[in-house]
Amino acid sequence: MPEASCQKQFIMTTRKILITGGAGFIGSHVVRLFVNNYPNYEIYNLDKLTYAGNLKNLTDIENAPNYHFVRLDLVDATAVNNLFNEHQFDSVIHLAAESHVDRSITNPMDFVMTNVVGTVNLLNAAKEIWKGNMEGKLFYHVSTDEVYGSLHDGGFFLESTSYDPQSPYSASKAASDHFVRAYHNTYKIPVVLTNCSNNYGPNQFPEKLVPLFINNIRNNKPLPVYGKGENVRDWLYVVDHARAIDVVYHKGKIGETYNIGGFNEWTNIDLIKVICKTMDKILGRHEGESEKLITYVTDRAGHDLRYAIDANKIMKELGWEPSLQFEEGIEKTINWYMDNQQWMDEVTSGDYAKYYDKMYASR
Ligand code: NAD
Ligand code: TYD
Repeated sequence: MPEASCQKQFIMTTRKILITGGAGFIGSHVVRLFVNNYPNYEIYNLDKLTYAGNLKNLTDIENAPNYHFVRLDLVDATAVNNLFNEHQFDSVIHLAAESHVDRSITNPMDFVMTNVVGTVNLLNAAKEIWKGNMEGKLFYHVSTDEVYGSLHDGGFFLESTSYDPQSPYSASKAASDHFVRAYHNTYKIPVVLTNCSNNYGPNQFPEKLVPLFINNIRNNKPLPVYGKGENVRDWLYVVDHARAIDVVYHKGKIGETYNIGGFNEWTNIDLIKVICKTMDKILGRHEGESEKLITYVTDRAGHDLRYAIDANKIMKELGWEPSLQFEEGIEKTINWYMDNQQWMDEVTSGDYAKYYDKMYASR
């Protein structure tokens, strides 16, 4: 059967899918979408539950009959192999990662272990149980636009853009992407990769810009803008990323890479002003009150200037497009954090204060 029609069969048949990092920000939206939309698929969520993993992100689907959770560290090769032997997964959607650039600057080895070693452990386990019969199998690797480096002279990242990672985080993701492609070339593992731009939305750990600033505005704390706030990011609503992953899982061509993005570029300072303005409205503050919290701090080391994705390939070839306009998405996001203060309180208790002091006290 040709690969494309083989993939179409996924929708009708039973699948046993291992989703890694499903308790994290993007992973939880992907798990929810697959559990709800495909009741005939068995979804196994593998997660170590690091500081970024939170099963409260999935309370609405935790009792679904097609959902299973496995707590496991991808760095433990024996445990990963045993899990594959036990369940004989026919596909993997790999999201688990250390994901925060600032943490990668202070602790690069954590990123090497999870993002590189963890990915190779997964590839080895899949290779072992799929050898001899790769038909209908799929290793879907979720990656980032940061592997392409930093744009300084205009233009967009294309799927053909050379890798040029600039942070320990993006270097570790680039290495993992290379391993995935190398396993496809060498061992014929059926793979597909996506490289997505910055995500925002519900359930993001408040170390990243959007939830951190929403939480600080709410608590009247300074808003630490790195450098001059002139860096540009291309923002996509997290559910639209999950929808893209669904489309690529079912219709993506084996061996291909698809860039995902919303053609939605913002300088950090402009984005922060939109968040401040929306928060003023929601909190009933005078216009301009939250902006007074903006504090310019020492820049991030090696701070990438601009990321911008050309998403034409996935749009034209697979028919995906973002469903939300940015203004709608950001308001929805802010309202989610306002309505879920208990979620925020829980994730910011414990070690969060220590992290925050260490990261921001010296800036
Ligand atoms: P996240 O930090 O919110 O979640 C990562 C999850 O992986 C957590 O649940 C964590 O517990 C789990 N994990 C970490 N180390 C593990 C290990 N050793 N074994 C098993 N589980 C482990 O990350 P995210 O923002 O949801 O990103 C998910 C994926 O998407 C990552 O691969 C990231 O590189 C990629 N990505 C993220 C963005 C973004 O804007 N956040 C954009 C593009 C691509
Ligand atoms: P972040 O959410 O960490 O994502 P990434 O670094 O992967 O793009 O940061 C988004 C942008 O916001 C980035 O240019 C760094 C900047 N930033 C700040 O100015 N202050 C902050 O406290 C944080 C966390 C980020």
